[in-house]
Amino acid sequence: MKKQKEIKKIPAIINCDPGIDDAIALIMAIKSDLIDVKLITTDLGNVSTEQAGQNTLNILELIGADDIPVACGEGKCLEIERPRVAVHGKTGLGSYVFPKNSRKLLKGDAVDIMYQTIMAEEEKTTLICLSPPTNIAKMLLKYPDAKDKIERLVFMVGSIEQLKRGALPYAEFNVAGDPEASKAILKSKVKLEIVPMEMGHTAYLDWQDVFKTKNMNFVGSVLENLYREYKDRHVKNGIATHDSCAIAYITNPEIFKVEPVKVDIRYYDKLGTGVFVMNFDKTPNALTCTEIDIKKFKKLYFKMLKKCK
Ligand code: RIB
Ligand code: CA
Repeated sequence: MKKQKEIKKIPAIINCDPGIDDAIALIMAIKSDLIDVKLITTDLGNVSTEQAGQNTLNILELIGADDIPVACGEGKCLEIERPRVAVHGKTGLGSYVFPKNSRKLLKGDAVDIMYQTIMAEEEKTTLICLSPPTNIAKMLLKYPDAKDKIERLVFMVGSIEQLKRGALPYAEFNVAGDPEASKAILKSKVKLEIVPMEMGHTAYLDWQDVFKTKNMNFVGSVLENLYREYKDRHVKNGIATHDSCAIAYITNPEIFKVEPVKVDIRYYDKLGTGVFVMNFDKTPNALTCTEIDIKKFKKLYFKMLKKCK
């Protein structure tokens, strides 16, 4: 019997704000054979960092991954606080009531713990950002030497469509939530690979997928319950999959079209709403996904779900 080739897992840290699509992403990452999640940090985004921390512990308990450490960020933007819209229900995970969770969040600041985790790793760490990137920006500013130990930053952020309004793109949530943090990340020159919101809007779960999810297993029935309150206004007939597209990009880059791009932060109103402006004609400073194979993505989603109970 041919011995199965040992698959080398990549060490990764996920910065997120669960958030219903974050929940799918965390399950997909943890159930994948390719990603070794060393740490999860939570940032101010869909909910407070503490609520995001609790939500993360509940998701880990749900899938029996309760050995992964979770640390909360400070919950303050890099420079200026930004207004946010809540689209993930009362708790950030709909109104599902998870069983009492005895696990505790790590003590100490996510920024310091993130740095220590990166520096303790022999190999370079892949950073995955599924929220406003405040923790990551603060870590890179406080510990510039971390950059040499970072493989790349895979960031669910921005939009490749230029809106008619002033030809500026849509103020996607993760950049608009702390644009100064994104600016600091660009300045750090860390290797940046972008999964823009059009991926999650294209490869959304339709109602048939949601029905299949619900009847797959217990985890599927919980996810379906969360989905009832997910109100992404770009996806009317289904569930946006933004953050899990970032995970799929790491495990299966072949299902995406990827192009070099020049990104920059631009502000376009008196509120200082920051957006990622993407220009495909200038000298690139990042890579961005521009297309996704929907069928192959959904296959990955259900393959992940089958691994749950
Ligand atoms: O724009 C989509 C992003 O905003 C996703 O990360 C979603 O969780 C919300 O945070
Ligand atoms: Ca998110």
